[in-house]
Amino acid sequence: RHPGWPAELGPLRVAGGVVTVRSIRLRDAAAWSRLRLRDRAHLEPWEPTGEAPWDMRHHISVWPGLYRSLRSEAHKGLMLPMAIELDGRFCGQLTVGNIVRGALRSAWIGYWVEKEVNGLGVATAAVALGLDHCFGPVGLHRVEATVRPENEASRAVLRKVGFREEGLLKRYLDVQGRFRDHLLVAMTVEEVPGSVSDRLVRAGRATWS
Ligand code: ACO
Repeated sequence: RHPGWPAELGPLRVAGGVVTVRSIRLRDAAAWSRLRLRDRAHLEPWEPTGEAPWDMRHHISVWPGLYRSLRSEAHKGLMLPMAIELDGRFCGQLTVGNIVRGALRSAWIGYWVEKEVNGLGVATAAVALGLDHCFGPVGLHRVEATVRPENEASRAVLRKVGFREEGLLKRYLDVQGRFRDHLLVAMTVEEVPGSVSDRLVRAGRATWS
């Protein structure tokens, strides 16, 4: 076990409803598969290229194996694989990966939210809760994220929670079969007076539910 795992974060209320973030579960299989298959066109332009075809990679039968490997990484202290819920219903994932301890105390954060509830503040609230968890119980000093310059919605999320742009990573990640440039953004704990969630609340983007 490592600090901050398992986790139950929130609730924060946004335009779309009440957002909570929690450790993934074996019984997320059906919701995960349904949303991932239905929203392929919405998700695929921004995600790493996989080896098997999309439908095969997101069949309901894939989840138990994926769940176990993510949970094992979590138990080793390398990852925080979490589900985002809106009004108690699975609607996406928030993942903190490559957790490095020692003198770096750093990780990356990534996320997706089902298309139907986009634009209602869900991802922004989930990322804020995740960052506060990383800088609090998990004990990290720096969290970074990478995003394609064309991904305006995700860039808006990163801006709203206070990420700072550090540079452009040329041909960084294989997305839809080609190595694509990504912007690198980051935040260190010194840049968060109070909490990220508090800052969202003060900006009128969320309320403590
Ligand atoms: N141009 C400019 N702004 C846009 C656009 C656009 N085309 N589309 C949406 N936005 C803005 C919205 O207006 C909103 O900002 P506002 O609150 O100031 O109006 C913001 O983007 C979205 O904020 P949220 O509502 O909090 O985010 P949402 O719950 O809709 O989720 C997400 C955004 C996660 C990017 C979702 O669209 C998604 O899952 N996309 C596919 C997967 C993906 O791109 N994941 C992120 C990869 S990068 C990474 O993980 C670091």
